[in-house]
Amino acid sequence: MEESVTLTDNRTGRSIEIPIVGGGVDAGAWRKLLGGIWFNDPGMATTAVTSSAVAEIDGEAGILRYRGYPIEQLAERSTFPEVAYLLVYGELPTGAQLDEWTFEITRHTFIHENFRKRIYDAFHYDAHPMGLLVSGVAGLSTFYPEAKDIFDPDNRRAQIVRLIAKMPTLAAAAYRFSRGLPFQFPENADDYPTRFLKMMFDVGGDYEPDPPLVQAMRVLFILHADHGQNCSTTATRVVGSSHADPYTAIAAGCAALYGPLHGGANEAVIDMLTQIGSYDEVDGFIAEVKAGKHRLMGFGHRVYKNYDPRAMIIKAAAHDVFKVIGKNPLLDIALKLEEVALADDYFVSRRLYPNVDFYSGLIYQALGFPTNMFTVLFAIGRTPGWLAHWNEMVEQKSRIYRPRQIYTGAPKRDYVPMKDR
Ligand code: SDX
Repeated sequence: MEESVTLTDNRTGRSIEIPIVGGGVDAGAWRKLLGGIWFNDPGMATTAVTSSAVAEIDGEAGILRYRGYPIEQLAERSTFPEVAYLLVYGELPTGAQLDEWTFEITRHTFIHENFRKRIYDAFHYDAHPMGLLVSGVAGLSTFYPEAKDIFDPDNRRAQIVRLIAKMPTLAAAAYRFSRGLPFQFPENADDYPTRFLKMMFDVGGDYEPDPPLVQAMRVLFILHADHGQNCSTTATRVVGSSHADPYTAIAAGCAALYGPLHGGANEAVIDMLTQIGSYDEVDGFIAEVKAGKHRLMGFGHRVYKNYDPRAMIIKAAAHDVFKVIGKNPLLDIALKLEEVALADDYFVSRRLYPNVDFYSGLIYQALGFPTNMFTVLFAIGRTPGWLAHWNEMVEQKSRIYRPRQIYTGAPKRDYVPMKDR
């Protein structure tokens, strides 16, 4: 075999040759030779849990492609519904396919009135919108019990359409609830980003978002749409692998995204920039990061060991937005942080570069979103990606995720009666 590795068990002298296929080696061959010996791989940093055709990421080259199409071209020329179709079905839609897809999504944006009026009312007014979203998505599963029939492709499409259509409605409802504003119903005549912005910010029926702001929302949704086996997509696949319905699987994805090391980073970046407070405090903050007192939020990535291509596109989009609504004062601090970090060996040696979350929050804030809505925006964008992976996993007839462990606990011991403790 040309491309292969040889594995030898030095306890027995037995060896096997394992072919390197598609950048991976088959762990099954390992099991044949070394039964009961497991890869110890915390965080699955070197483990491919599945094969997937949805997104290709080259961390060294800073490349991201959705079904082979470069993210730069999609961000410039596509629409979010079109990218959602591409991710789920693997090909760019024809005109007729896109019209049908857009028609279906447009007509599934409503959520049941019982649900809208009661589920959010159960929360405190200042509940974090991600808490509402995770609960809302999970609750949706109770309105569509037929979604459990995951092996019917038509049924899968119906739920996929519903989730892509309803995420903005759930998101906007969570925001309006937190502001004590009446719910704004979705308008069928609007495109996806415009409809969402109106549900968020229209008060009185005369709100029309500026076209550059709609364009920024379009680009941000597209850039967040998928990213391979990231933490939240893996959570979606893990829950989906037990054959739970897609609403429950996507709720798991939302829950994983909430964490500040993942989708919560965009909110954490703004908090960090606000904490730094001024351009002159940047050097001092960087020194504290290097001393281990803080993480530089919005920097670093498990896969990108070069610039995250999405960060470059978002940085350019930020300037377009600021031309319309004025520069976000935190931008200068962010630009200085980037300049200082990229010239400092602490970050360069650890290959820490700005990721998708470093600049996105500056745009969201300039568009008028409160920081606690930022991860919700990430979830809206990521929903087609989560669904594409869930759909792929069902079609692959994936086995249930059940990893092993290295046990480090106490050896066998007998129960001790209370009097002897
Ligand atoms: C997203 O996976 C995806 O694809 C995610 C995502 C997607 O689209 O789904 O791209 C979206 O989640 C982007 C990442 C957003 N998170 C942040 O910006 C939070 C800050 N970044 C980090 O916490 C960190 O970089 C991670 C979580 C992104 C990656 O963590 P890893 O791969 O586990 O890296 P690590 O924690 O092992 O760090 C390696 C070294 C460590 O130093 P040493 O122990 O070797 O001395 O780099 C240091 C870390 O301390 N380090 C940082 C740092 N990130 C890593 N030091 C300072 N600031 C940072 N941001």
